[in-house]
Amino acid sequence: MAERPVIFVLNGPNLNMLGTREPDIYGTMTLDDIAGMLEDRALELGVTVEMRQSNHEGHLVDWIQEAHIKGAKAIIINPGAYTHSSIALYDAIKGVSTPVIEVHLSNPHTREAFRHKSFVGQAAKGSIMGFGAQSYMLALDAAARF
Ligand code: DQA
Repeated sequence: MAERPVIFVLNGPNLNMLGTREPDIYGTMTLDDIAGMLEDRALELGVTVEMRQSNHEGHLVDWIQEAHIKGAKAIIINPGAYTHSSIALYDAIKGVSTPVIEVHLSNPHTREAFRHKSFVGQAAKGSIMGFGAQSYMLALDAAARF
């Protein structure tokens, strides 16, 4: 049987705190809960999810490159606050041919002005935001159809 396509799901700083971190903004699901939901959906879609989280910018750069080298079908990334600051992530995404979907639990455009600019969004194929954990599910459905 052919191997199932792999979709990397990368999570940036503070997303390890989901569940207790500002639940009025980010909800009460933990990152493990989201991973479980994605794995169930991935089975239905015939893909494999590689879920990772780091508080360190360079790890995210390494994983974007790794996804490309390993021939991943797509990268879904919630870069957390690095969304709004990281030219390194912008360059990493520009430097690979793997399609990238930016996701956010909240809708940064309705929040503080410093969240309105996204370096990652300027390099990504598309962005999904504002639907809580559902943002990840919508991104997985889109990525599986690439
Ligand atoms: C976030 C939005 C970012 O502005 C923030 O820094 C995060 C989470 C989101 O998923 O809504 O850490 O990426």
